[in-house]
Parts: sequence; C-alpha cells; structure tokens
Amino acid sequence: MWQPAVAIVLGSGLGRLAEHVQHASCIPYSSIPYFSTTSAVGHAGTVICGYLAGLPVVLLQGRAHRYEGISNCQASFPVRCARALGADILITTNAAGGLNPRFQTGDLMVLDSHLDFLWPRGQFESDCQPTQIAPRRTPPYDWNLLTRAKELARRENITLHQGCYLATLGPTYETRSEYRMFRWAGADAVGMSTLPEVLAAQELSMRVLAFSVITNVASTDIPQTTTHAEVVDVGLAVGPKLLSIVSGLLEDLSGQPD
Ligand code: HPA
Repeated sequence: MWQPAVAIVLGSGLGRLAEHVQHASCIPYSSIPYFSTTSAVGHAGTVICGYLAGLPVVLLQGRAHRYEGISNCQASFPVRCARALGADILITTNAAGGLNPRFQTGDLMVLDSHLDFLWPRGQFESDCQPTQIAPRRTPPYDWNLLTRAKELARRENITLHQGCYLATLGPTYETRSEYRMFRWAGADAVGMSTLPEVLAAQELSMRVLAFSVITNVASTDIPQTTTHAEVVDVGLAVGPKLLSIVSGLLEDLSGQPD
C-alpha cells in the first residue's frame, strides 16, 4: 500500500518540483473536505501523491495563508493529514525577503530558528486539539537533515545560508521601517507562511526541514517595492537548485532502513 514517508510543501513559484513526481495522482484542495483553497498566484492548490527519488511522497503544491482569513490550525491541516497518512518528515519551502545583508536574490536559506509574528492566532484555533499539552522543549528543525542539506548544497556549488525566518501576517510586504525592525529582532529572512506547518509538525513529532528562497533583498536604506510577480519569478528560477538538494536528501532517505 502506498504510504508517504515525506510530506513536501511547495511555496510561491516552487510548484514545478511536482513535475518530477512519478506515478503521480493529483487531487485538488477544493475537493478535499476542510482543505483551504488559496487565491495566491503561484500556489496551485493540489495534493500530489507519488514517488520522488524512489520514495513515496505527498506534495502539497501551494498553501493557504493566514492573511486569507484562516487560523494556524486551518493552515496546517494539510500537514496534519499527511502525518495521518504516515509521513514522519516534513520538508517545507517558502519565498522570503532577505534581511541579512549577506543575502542575494536567488540565494537559499535553510531555517535553523524562527520568530513567530503570526498573531493574533485567529478564529477557530480551538478546533485544533493539541496532541501534546506540555511545553515542547525540542527545537522544531532537525539537525541531521539540516546538516545533510548543507553538505548536498556544498557538493552542488549552491549557496545555502542558514538562519532565522520571521513569519508575519502580511498580506502587504514590509515597509523599510518594518524590515529594519525585523532585522534588529534577529531575523535573516521574512515571509508570510510556514510556521503554522512547522509548529503542527513539531507537535506531531515529525522531523522538519525548511527552506526559504530569497526572492528579494530588503534594503533598509534604499526605498524599493516588492511585487508578488517578482517573488514568483525568482521562485521559478531557483526551483532547480532546491530540487537538486531535496532529491539528494530523498535519495539518502530511501537508502536508509526504517
Ligand atoms: N516580505 C514578506 N514576505 C515575502 C517577501 C518579503 O519581502 N518576499 C517574499 N515573501
């Protein structure tokens, strides 16, 4: 019986990873009860079940965001379903604005920490029954997966930074003052997603690996505008680099005994 080992969430402009799935079955979010559909450009809203690098995977192609009026619980529902199907690893990806002055457009970052600015939590949060009431002590990001991702990136000559992702509600991109404040707070990149999934996966004892594609660099000094079209375009251009890292990881995992 097909049972996913890994759930992969594809963020803005990163949906093309789905083209590499073998024996794919595609199910639109709109046909699955309680799945939130998304209106964000670059997010197809499709579940893809199949195999990548020989490993059974479920791809969540696109995500609904908190700024679309949903709670963390609703935003993380697809990951909770993937967990219920059997996935015990979450690989999640997003588009983000680079705050660290060393970052350049098109770079990748692997998350080793986060700042959660997704509050207020939103309506319906109580719909989610936490499986674990006690405070969680372990950090959500899996150190072995992170280290392996960095090795694979180095091998392929891909720039992969490591840093802290700050999630904000959006839906507008930040003002220069907000970018400055977020940098001051310790963030290396800022985006509007990912943490609901990461927190749910942590609660459900999944191993988590998360990547940001730096689709724009946020200069705190020069006035500039960020557009969603630009974010999606960079996501599309950087997709192949992410694919090679993720494929390498999946190949490793498929060689590992359970
Ligand atoms: N801010 C917030 N979210 C984003 C950005 C940004 O600059 N770029 C891509 N997603």
